[in-house]
Amino acid sequence: PRHFAIVPAAGNGSRMAASRPKQYLPLLGKPLIFHSLAVLCAAPAIDKVFVVLSVDDAEWRRHDWSSLGPKLVPLFCGGATRADSVLAGLRAAAHEVEPSDWVLVHDAARPCLAPWHIEKLIRELARDEVGGLLAVPVADTLKRAGEHRQVLATVPRENLWQAQTPQMFRHVMLRRALEAATHVTDEASAIEAAGLHPRLVEGDATNLKVTYPLDLHLAEWILSNREG
Ligand code: CTP
Ligand code: MG
Repeated sequence: PRHFAIVPAAGNGSRMAASRPKQYLPLLGKPLIFHSLAVLCAAPAIDKVFVVLSVDDAEWRRHDWSSLGPKLVPLFCGGATRADSVLAGLRAAAHEVEPSDWVLVHDAARPCLAPWHIEKLIRELARDEVGGLLAVPVADTLKRAGEHRQVLATVPRENLWQAQTPQMFRHVMLRRALEAATHVTDEASAIEAAGLHPRLVEGDATNLKVTYPLDLHLAEWILSNREG
């Protein structure tokens, strides 16, 4: 099977509260989304990179993406939620993708994706029936709170993982799972709702999601201190 990437980039970054959607904020002189698109397009295993943009995206066309080469395909078909955007991307790409091909869904808001993240994910899941996702073990002590912020319990962090992206599943399985799912925030939870068990592949904390302004500073530090 081949491997395709789908990059949902149709959000508006409300928690970032910036003047434009966070995927277009400047990061080391490029739009934030450029960094992970460059890594995905350069990955030898990946055939094409579909970027799912908002129907009324006003920024994409203002930048020059030609340095990323012919693998990059913008699709102006984003939906109201992340899952809607991914599903719209899967449908728009369906004529190029076989049912058994792997699809790697990667957040536009994770600019510090490294080549080894992609290589490890593909290597560890190559013979998996279901697929899986990059994740990191939870480091903090977790509390479950009641309505008045009173601690009800300490949740043992043993066996708890923080989900990241890319999340990698077979095209047909992912599409069916997302079509059936409601209120999912990632692909893995749609697959879980179908009764299957995605596999966790250990990544690292550098693959952070830019959600709040502090994350942008962390991402800048990570990218500028990376080797090579
Ligand atoms: N996303 C999308 N379509 C949506 C919502 C989100 O493609 N309707 C994308 C975002 O662009 C982002 C990724 O999904 O790359 C992860 O979502 P998140 O971090 O929540 O981004 P936003 O929804 O833009 O931010 P916020 O939730 O703070 O508004
Ligand atoms: Mg969101």
